Amino acid sequence: MNLFENKSILLGITGSIAAYKAADLASRLKKSGAKVNAVLTPGAEKFISPLTFQPVIGSKAYVDNDLWIGETHVTHIGLGHNADLAVIAPASADFMAKLAYGFGDSLLAVSILASHCPLLLAPAMDGDMYDHAATQANVAILKERGAHFIGPASGHLASGLTGVGRMSEPAEIFNNIRCLLSRDGKLRGKRILVTAGGTREAIDPVRMITNRSSGKQGYAIAQAALDAGADVTLISAPTALDVPFGCQYIPVESAADMLNAVVAHLPECDGLIMCAAVADFHPLAAAEHKIKKDGGFNQISLEPTQDILAEVAVMRPSLSKLKAVIGFAAESQDLRQNAKGKLDKKKLDMIVANDISAKDSGFAVDQNRAVFLYADGREKEIPLMGKDQLAEALITDLLQLL
Ligand code: CTP
Repeated sequence: MNLFENKSILLGITGSIAAYKAADLASRLKKSGAKVNAVLTPGAEKFISPLTFQPVIGSKAYVDNDLWIGETHVTHIGLGHNADLAVIAPASADFMAKLAYGFGDSLLAVSILASHCPLLLAPAMDGDMYDHAATQANVAILKERGAHFIGPASGHLASGLTGVGRMSEPAEIFNNIRCLLSRDGKLRGKRILVTAGGTREAIDPVRMITNRSSGKQGYAIAQAALDAGADVTLISAPTALDVPFGCQYIPVESAADMLNAVVAHLPECDGLIMCAAVADFHPLAAAEHKIKKDGGFNQISLEPTQDILAEVAVMRPSLSKLKAVIGFAAESQDLRQNAKGKLDKKKLDMIVANDISAKDSGFAVDQNRAVFLYADGREKEIPLMGKDQLAEALITDLLQLL
């Protein structure tokens, strides 16, 4: 289910100081399993050598001369036709002008003219050049024609000035590419709600009750759903993780916030994956001001939070779109029995039973092992694997449920 396998990316590099960052992007794409065809314009060659790309992508990087002395006289047609996605990073003002007006004066320009795939541009130039009416008009023409844009970002520019014009970082461009490649996946047109992270229940403005959840499994599920083409709403308690590119992100703090967000967004969803570690109890009332130690602080009165999945079960008959509700069970003993009890009690279609007593799986680490239990009595053993792999397995099964 690797999104990048069997995908051919045409990576165009044009004349900008940001050209050196294209090698990083090429490396990320190659490591992810894509076939990368790099094409440098004459301007790009002034900033970076094609030799830099060759070991990174495992094949020759094309330069303008290849248009005239290539292995075949139709190098450009092949490059354009075979691409699943064309990315121009960095995209100079000059190259965008050429694209907007259909010039074919370089191997890269004719390759883009010959392509039928989506086009992503990552502009990079001085702020004044980007702001110029001509550049803005060219960007508008390309957008109108369906081209996708990422950036430019704001920051320090090669001119020494600060402004809008920096090429977006390779990691961001990579995430954008990932999102564009996924749009025709099997979950296309489906909206999946994923909850993640450990909720925080305030004691006072400084202190809180929380749990060991890192959010890693939930974020991996959100990414796997995006990779499968779904529209994803991610409702997340605070984590240290990057939000998967392309999802609708709803940050929350407490169990009550998460319940409100789930209730608000669920009616438009086809599936719910409740991966968050929701607090079962919260302090009766959070103190408005910091509790001072001199006053004594030896007891916190707690009351139960509302069970979100129990509320979902009550709402479900009125939610015509919702076809699958999946819960998680974090257990340190009697894994199957406890998880089965939650599957029935919370009226779920499936539950992921997670043994959190093992050191190599569960909370905070990058790996997980689990048992998938289904409402119809089926069981599936998931051996120790990366959380992203477990997420892919879960999304594959979600497809069946939908
Ligand atoms: N859950 C929920 N609302 C809560 C607590 C949990 O919706 N207030 C969800 C979790 O997101 C998970 C499932 O219920 O999908 C099971 O959570 P878990 O913490 O394993 O079980 P609890 O129902 O909280 O029971 P216990 O803590 O006693 O094991």
